[in-house]
Amino acid sequence: MQQASLHLLQAGGKRIRPVFVLLAAKFGRYDIQVVKDVAVALELIHMASLVHDDVIDDADLRRGRPTIKSKWDNRFAMYSGDYIFAKSLELMTNVENPVAHQILSNTIVELTIGEIEQIKDKYRFEQNLRDYLLRIKRKTALLIAASCQLGAIAAGVEEEVHRKLARFGYFVGMSFQITDDVLDFTGTEKELGKPAGGDLLQGNITLPVLFAMKDEKLRSEIVKVHENIGSDEMTHIIELIKNSNAIEKSLEFSDRYLDKALEVLDELPNNKAKKTLRDIALYIGKRKS
Ligand code: FPP
Ligand code: MG
Repeated sequence: MQQASLHLLQAGGKRIRPVFVLLAAKFGRYDIQVVKDVAVALELIHMASLVHDDVIDDADLRRGRPTIKSKWDNRFAMYSGDYIFAKSLELMTNVENPVAHQILSNTIVELTIGEIEQIKDKYRFEQNLRDYLLRIKRKTALLIAASCQLGAIAAGVEEEVHRKLARFGYFVGMSFQITDDVLDFTGTEKELGKPAGGDLLQGNITLPVLFAMKDEKLRSEIVKVHENIGSDEMTHIIELIKNSNAIEKSLEFSDRYLDKALEVLDELPNNKAKKTLRDIALYIGKRKS
């Protein structure tokens, strides 16, 4: 299990969740040992969820490396995911405030519901914007919100401020996932560390698809992904979406969440961490991987 965990750990990643924990702690007075444990715990929860997700999605590549489920097998991946998850909870025991544990457990429950909703919503072409937004809130935004909030709570930050940090994380998380869903269409396999176009191939209806389906002609092409179409036809459908205005409209949507994140940030006390949080939020809007 350690080998498998290291395999994923060494593949790297953006580590944005621990960065948010550490920066949010700067709004209070912190014991670096405790805050570090929270930062590691948040990354481990994210990692554990990805190990399980790759089993669910039958994915062979993650961060440019074979997934645990493809290098070993599904059973192995489930055990390793659970092991990584348990390790994260072990680290969290160093936080004494029960509020932190309530927030984290609630976030994990929502994350799990988000993943199940994603499975249920596959190929459900009649789903709407609200379904999509609720799903990405659960599967991505809440864990980023929790990273910000828990870093602050571990540093004894007052409630008004840690709630604002959670809101900042939520808006950044929404923008982050929308950008991710756009990159799945516009990115290259090298940039993404996994094949592009994978979401639609798996029946995952993301924001660019929802916008593209507003056009009746495009919609009639897109619904074909449910049939057993060949890879040429799939590439053609992806090209149609890329060449429509759906990408631009999705990015505008992502920017609206970023603006909200920056507004909340403005209301926070001034310190150096605030400037870094702003830079990270802006990077998220421009990233390529
Ligand atoms: C990636 O989604 C997956 C998630 C963001 C969450 C997965 C959550 C679980 C499996 C349940 C919780 C489990 C634990 C152990 C806490 P994606 O498939 O859209 O993204 P990808 O392209 O990166 O695979
Ligand atoms: Mg996946």
